[in-house]
Amino acid sequence: MENKKTIITYGTFDMFHIGHLKLLQRLKEFGDELIVAVSTDEFNELKGKKTLIPYEQRAEIVSNIKCVNKVIPENSWDQKIEDVEQYNIDIFAIGDDWEGKFDFLEKYCEVVYLARTKNVSTTKLKKSLSNFLSIPKEDILNAFTIIEQLKKDFE
Ligand code: CTP
Repeated sequence: MENKKTIITYGTFDMFHIGHLKLLQRLKEFGDELIVAVSTDEFNELKGKKTLIPYEQRAEIVSNIKCVNKVIPENSWDQKIEDVEQYNIDIFAIGDDWEGKFDFLEKYCEVVYLARTKNVSTTKLKKSLSNFLSIPKEDILNAFTIIEQLKKDFE
């Protein structure tokens, strides 16, 4: 395709959520082909991030999102220039939690930072999960007993 525009983004995409989906959908609107570099488990460890979902599964989920054309592994901080050249990237784009951090790529392509979707993140999901799991078992059982009793009262 003539004048085809290719976009690239980078991220962990652990516990894939609505913020991830909205970001990818907005990115695709910038052009024709969207490449997503998904951080490998080893690279996440290097970043001090521990993922719940392994790389192979995160990559498979992202590559099956309708607007995504290709997934590549993100193995290091300094692969970006090489990727931009190898895949003829027109636009590098990422959420604005990274504002200004990748301006050095402006020599090679357009750089865009997008506003994040509010009130959702993998960190928040992990916290909710951990709060949920820390509810004492007796409290859950008591709640069920109360519900059963209420049901009987209404019968
Ligand atoms: N993102 C977004 N809106 C959100 C969460 C993430 O637009 N609510 C974007 C990020 O800005 C990034 C991409 O999605 O460009 C992948 O982000 P990632 O770090 O994998 O997701 P987070 O939910 O931010 O994960 P964490 O809480 O571990 O930082």
